Amino acid sequence: MMTMTIEFLERHPRVALIHAPTPLEFLGGLSRRYGASIYIKRDDCTGLALGGNKSRKLEYVLAEALAMGADTVLTGGGLQSNHARQTAAACAKLGLKCILALKRSEAVCKDERDRNGNLLLDLLLGAETRRIDAAVELDAALAAIAGEVSAAGGRPYVIPLGASTALGALGYVCCAAEIVAQAQGLGLKPTHVFVASGSGGTQAGLMAGFEALGADIATLGVDIDANPQRTRQRVGDVLANTRELLGLPGPSQDQGRLRMLTGFAGQAYGEPADAGNAAIRQLAGGDGILLDPIYTGKAMSALIAMLEHREFQRTDCIVFVHTGGVPGLFAYHRAFTTDDAQ
Ligand SMILES: Cc1ncc(COP(=O)(O)O)c(C=O)c1O
Repeated sequence: MMTMTIEFLERHPRVALIHAPTPLEFLGGLSRRYGASIYIKRDDCTGLALGGNKSRKLEYVLAEALAMGADTVLTGGGLQSNHARQTAAACAKLGLKCILALKRSEAVCKDERDRNGNLLLDLLLGAETRRIDAAVELDAALAAIAGEVSAAGGRPYVIPLGASTALGALGYVCCAAEIVAQAQGLGLKPTHVFVASGSGGTQAGLMAGFEALGADIATLGVDIDANPQRTRQRVGDVLANTRELLGLPGPSQDQGRLRMLTGFAGQAYGEPADAGNAAIRQLAGGDGILLDPIYTGKAMSALIAMLEHREFQRTDCIVFVHTGGVPGLFAYHRAFTTDDAQ
């Protein structure tokens, strides 16, 4: 199955966007503090316009857009969407027009002078940004814009929330294969992988990948949406479709093992949480690693909580997947600078 999966990934149409393999590094500070063996998969270093997990998914998704003859790519998300920024960068690289539908948020951008973080980068990367109401369904907004583009003679290609389709998840099947190969090279046997889960494609791709490669690794998603049932459902749906695309036999063994850690998202999606911010400070000061307040900081706070509660065996080997998002720090700088200002 392992060779078949690698061959499938190599055969599948893909555009080259990222620096891979991304490093798998020992997290010395955190490991020493808790007497554990913790590694970090540096997908914040995928390379495209400050990196992140979505670039892996876009390698497969945008190959389809090009094959279909699209000239305009539409996607969206929150105002500080990392997915939107990486899509804007990929489109700039591939010569495609990019339109982003971004949900309004007073918390991170009161007016255009406050344009910062990912939103500033969307502008520099040449994307057209449109604000949509937070209550509007993203799919409906994108369908309306696609209609407009077609009516004007363009050829739109819509990427749904987070590029979390089976095609997008193939990017994380590749990441699973990298982790397995790198761990083998380092003489490690990972037992747990931690990842932030929102639209679900990253966790689903990792789970399908480990299953296809015969690697017995528990993949723990951390809900960052403050809506764990929905996040779990999204991961389950993308997992089922990805398994089908990969041709994995039988019912998923992993569906029943789908693990979603809850209680770390704070009040709502897009709102920093105290434990997540504390995790950001700890990793920055203790390991020289920058995390972000909406995804990776919250995911790291879940890992730290489990370390604090001694939920691992001494023989366990933990891999934290750093999915990027650091440009978001600059939009949320007030969450970190108030202490210093006093
Ligand atoms: C930095 C970061 N980490 C994790 C995620 C979650 O990935 P997924 O949407 O595939 O669940 C996202 C999604 O936008 C993200 O930007």
